[in-house]
Amino acid sequence: MVFYIIGIGLADEKDITLKGLEAVKKCREVFLESYTSKLQCSVSDLENFYNKKIKIADRELVEKKADEILKDNNCLLIIGDPMSATTHIDLYNRAKEKGLVVEVIHNASILTAVGIVGLELYKYGKTTSIPFHNENVKTPIDVIKMNLKNGLHTLVLLDLDPINNKFMTIGEAAEYLLKNKVKEINEETIAIGCAAIGSKKQIIKAGKLSELKKFEVKEFPQCIIIPGKLHFVEEEMIEKWR
Ligand SMILES: C[S@@+](CC[C@H](N)C(=O)[O-])C[C@H]1O[C@@H](n2cnc3c(N)ncnc32)[C@H](O)[C@@H]1O
Repeated sequence: MVFYIIGIGLADEKDITLKGLEAVKKCREVFLESYTSKLQCSVSDLENFYNKKIKIADRELVEKKADEILKDNNCLLIIGDPMSATTHIDLYNRAKEKGLVVEVIHNASILTAVGIVGLELYKYGKTTSIPFHNENVKTPIDVIKMNLKNGLHTLVLLDLDPINNKFMTIGEAAEYLLKNKVKEINEETIAIGCAAIGSKKQIIKAGKLSELKKFEVKEFPQCIIIPGKLHFVEEEMIEKWR
């Protein structure tokens, strides 16, 4: 009685691990969690490569009707890594309660792939995210301030609604940060915008928040990094993205 939770990586159908692919091939029903991130390929690209039919699992199915998914020899595919950024611990626990053996197959996550910008992963503080409806939301500002105080970098995730093809942009994130500006986070603050990391279309752009506010790029998903205290090697890397 095995249930698989499989990370399928960040970019396209070929990012699944060999272990993940072998599990998918032997599964009875294959579900794709479709609401917390986005790949650079279509569901039919996945179906053709895996040679399996895929059922889309929206938030309602995963969170409220999980019994339809949690069956012997089924799997749930998660974009990125299943236990990173958005954890699927709840589903893991529910599968266990049902007496299923749960096999988690890991993959790359945005939490590790941001290493590409050249800021040391060890020196990131708490991750935060900016929601679409952020009029009275101050948590991301508080988190960045706290990280800056401790000399740590901040990864800021940006809201998304893949089912309705809606994604927050680097420009909108910069705008939010400037609208709520504080002494430590202002027009002159250097940030790094990232889009579609891990894919051939990936874009990395460093600049002042006042510059990133005007930065437009059509690849999604996107995130932004606010650097903390920089080692000179990190400084040199940031210059490369300007
Ligand atoms: C909830 S996290 C997804 C976590 C996923 N399980 C993982 O391990 O990567 C989704 C957010 O991460 C960021 N993100 C995910 N993939 C990304 C990518 N390839 N490039 C840039 N940002 C990305 C975006 O801000 C997006 O809204």
